[in-house]
Amino acid sequence: MSYPYQITNYDQYKTAYKKSVDDPEGFWADIASHFYWRKRWDKVLEWDFSDYNVKWFQGGKLNITENCLDRHLGMMGNKPAIIWEPNDPEEHHRILTYRELHTKVVQFCNVLKNNGVKKGDRVCIYMGMVPELAIAVLACARMGAIHSVIFGGFSAQSIADRLWDANAEYVITCDGAFRGNKEIPLKSVIDDALIQCRFVKKTIVLTRTRTPVSMIKGRDVWWEDEIKKVETMGNPDFPAEEMDAEDPLFILYTSGSTGKPKGVVHTAGGYMIYTNYTFVNTFQYQPGDIHFCTADIGWITGHSYIVYGPLSAGATSLLFEGIPTWPDAGRFWDIVDKYKVNVLYTAPTAIRSLMGFGLGPVHGKHLDSLKVLGTVGEPINEEAWNWYNENIGKGRCPIVDTWWQTETGGCMISNMAGVTPSKPTYATLPMPGIQPVLMDENGKILEGNDVSGNLCIKFPWPSILRTTYGDHDRCKQNYFSAYPGYYFTGDGCHRDEHGFYRITGRVDDVLNVSGHRIGTAEVENAINMHAGVVESAVVGYPHDIKGQGIYAYVIYTGTHGDESLARQDITLTVSRIIGPIAKPDRIQFVSGLPKTRSGKIMRRILRKIAEGETENLGDTSTLLDPGIVEEIKNGKL
Ligand code: WT7
Repeated sequence: MSYPYQITNYDQYKTAYKKSVDDPEGFWADIASHFYWRKRWDKVLEWDFSDYNVKWFQGGKLNITENCLDRHLGMMGNKPAIIWEPNDPEEHHRILTYRELHTKVVQFCNVLKNNGVKKGDRVCIYMGMVPELAIAVLACARMGAIHSVIFGGFSAQSIADRLWDANAEYVITCDGAFRGNKEIPLKSVIDDALIQCRFVKKTIVLTRTRTPVSMIKGRDVWWEDEIKKVETMGNPDFPAEEMDAEDPLFILYTSGSTGKPKGVVHTAGGYMIYTNYTFVNTFQYQPGDIHFCTADIGWITGHSYIVYGPLSAGATSLLFEGIPTWPDAGRFWDIVDKYKVNVLYTAPTAIRSLMGFGLGPVHGKHLDSLKVLGTVGEPINEEAWNWYNENIGKGRCPIVDTWWQTETGGCMISNMAGVTPSKPTYATLPMPGIQPVLMDENGKILEGNDVSGNLCIKFPWPSILRTTYGDHDRCKQNYFSAYPGYYFTGDGCHRDEHGFYRITGRVDDVLNVSGHRIGTAEVENAINMHAGVVESAVVGYPHDIKGQGIYAYVIYTGTHGDESLARQDITLTVSRIIGPIAKPDRIQFVSGLPKTRSGKIMRRILRKIAEGETENLGDTSTLLDPGIVEEIKNGKL
């Protein structure tokens, strides 16, 4: 399979970009015509950013899995779709061809059907990185159920909140997951969540670690038993459900500046077109290449660039169960050599952590199959970029720095590997169809080059979020009210003298810890739930490996144990409420917080102190009690 819409030189990029701005509908219609539609769309685009509404390919009928699976069977049935590398390098890997993946997805559709799942139902998926996770996702998509994958690092409480929000009556999980030398008891976490969610009708449990689990009669069934039943039925076919282009495909929860995560909704048609287009162009995927995206399918990166982008393009996607540092810090490089990986897509935090082990683990690894390297999730620092370039890419692999978000569905600003210019630490140029705008604080557009401002997008692209599940007003408020008529990303950005973009980080109260997005308000809510805590304020601070660390200022009146124990108690509370990924790195006990007379916490000051700044804290004269700043400064950890 080759891609008629693959851009192969800089001039073509410029032409495509111009067309995408001059005639967006014609541009995307051309691309969409290379996919399989049961019925062609009537109207390419309808949009309104002020009373937020976006519809792409209205009237079009399709099923994304026919594009990811069925249409490849003729020519590429025997081609590997998924290569699975287990956590333990001694365990046998698995390869699923397109035909095998198709068969398993069809089988699992029948399992879902036998268990009562219907089109439009929400299905929560809480699994480790096993092929069955991709199978579960695709089976939902094939039958028109809306999947909501939850990352394994979230707690029972977080899962329960999400199940309630989506009113998800079905759960798919594993007994446990292997991650490095740890075993995560996934089913047991689900059991705790379900105590609060009596509306859940069925839980389907895949055996992976075969750790003891409780199986509740009538509610919990084993994946393997259900497959056997389908086999006994003679493995009936399951034709893909005909979906409207604008039918929801999935919900993925992500953090914002309020305490409650929001369910970002993506729809079938536009999401398929955009993830495929950006996959093919950003990474310059060539038929036969092995694509290794190291993200977890619990995040948008895994949805778009392990599952839907690669499979819709007939690519071979490598799915890795483990972590980069186990059994040793050479694991990624061993995987690259074992499967002759061509494209490696990972996060700056992983690069920085591996850098910390020195060149030992890279020594003796060939890495000569690599053609393209990629990064995603957070700004990459120059040192990490250089290390990646020199030691992994050996100076001969272009690095794509891809900026995007859960809400954008696919990559928005990035160089195209070897095709458009690259500049270390810059995401560089927008993808065709993406019209970035920089704004100053007052909503004035910053024209010209060499300017910095808040990053907005002026025009819809096919995979822009459609809503936040169950609360459209919140979606409008969150993304379309700060700069009326524009989608506001929440990121700060610099445009250099060549017009290249560099994302400088969030300008709202969202943290990016090891590439994981966490709202400060969420962490504060969790800390405040601890019995001894009166109030807290959470800010980010620069962290060598994680990018940002979580710094918590806490007013604490508890009397049970010393400060160190109190810190552990608070940390455990956060783990229970949100999950281990949100644990504060530092907790400083304070007697008060810097507040204005109207009671607003001045986070700017707290941020500066956490960053180690002691002098230029700005104007503190409006504070209710300016003395508190001195105390906090002196107690800094
Ligand atoms: C936030 C979105 C995109 C998938 C993974 C994260 C930051 C993302 C970059 C990049 C600088 C980046 C932004 C963005 N971010 N990519 N290449 N350079 N910052 O998705 O969890 O929705 O987080 O990640 O701050 O807003 P997410």
